[in-house]
Amino acid sequence: MSKAAELEKIKAEMETNASLPLRAEGINLVFGVGSAEAELVFIGEAPGFHENKHMEPFVGRAGQLLNKLLERVKIPRAQVYITNIVKHRPPGNRDPEPDELSAYKPYLTRELHIIKPKIVATLGRFSMNYFLPYAKISTDHGKIYKMNQTLIYPLYHPAAALRSTTVLGELEKDFLKIPAILKKYDSLITKVERPKEIIETKKGTIEKQQPLF
Ligand code: URA
Repeated sequence: MSKAAELEKIKAEMETNASLPLRAEGINLVFGVGSAEAELVFIGEAPGFHENKHMEPFVGRAGQLLNKLLERVKIPRAQVYITNIVKHRPPGNRDPEPDELSAYKPYLTRELHIIKPKIVATLGRFSMNYFLPYAKISTDHGKIYKMNQTLIYPLYHPAAALRSTTVLGELEKDFLKIPAILKKYDSLITKVERPKEIIETKKGTIEKQQPLF
């Protein structure tokens, strides 16, 4: 079965899964779009009003900014794959809750397992924390992490960049590095990861994954 057909199979499963927590009247499934062969995957948080209406991720204002950034790095939108962790719009665009994230996560895992991208660029803290549970967007954006054969590259969410010129500047700076990271993929992926940082917290010890450099 082709990668595209395997993705279609997941989409069909999601369409009939009545247990998904954010399924509701007037709420559409917003599955990933783009190339099933993509080397670069973007993962956002959850669909908003426009995404729900058009049943496509990142088509509203945040999506327009993402398109502009893609144009600046000369990467066609059709050549990448764009998806969200949560694939139904939360009421009033509120943040997804932990049990909702858990319900949708396995589908994202399967999408990535099929596509096997070289780089996953996470947009915002929810998708970043899927890979890097202890990372903080303000300090860890723009750093390169490794997970199996994929580089994880946390970016600020374009919606946050629309609210703050400082964040926009950071997002642009990080985004413009994507072509160079893609070019250096072969050498980056063979780098040995630095040992995890052990941090004592009130709730116990955590092991925080470190960027490649
Ligand atoms: N914000 C997201 O996280 N995802 C979308 O698809 C649109 C806006």
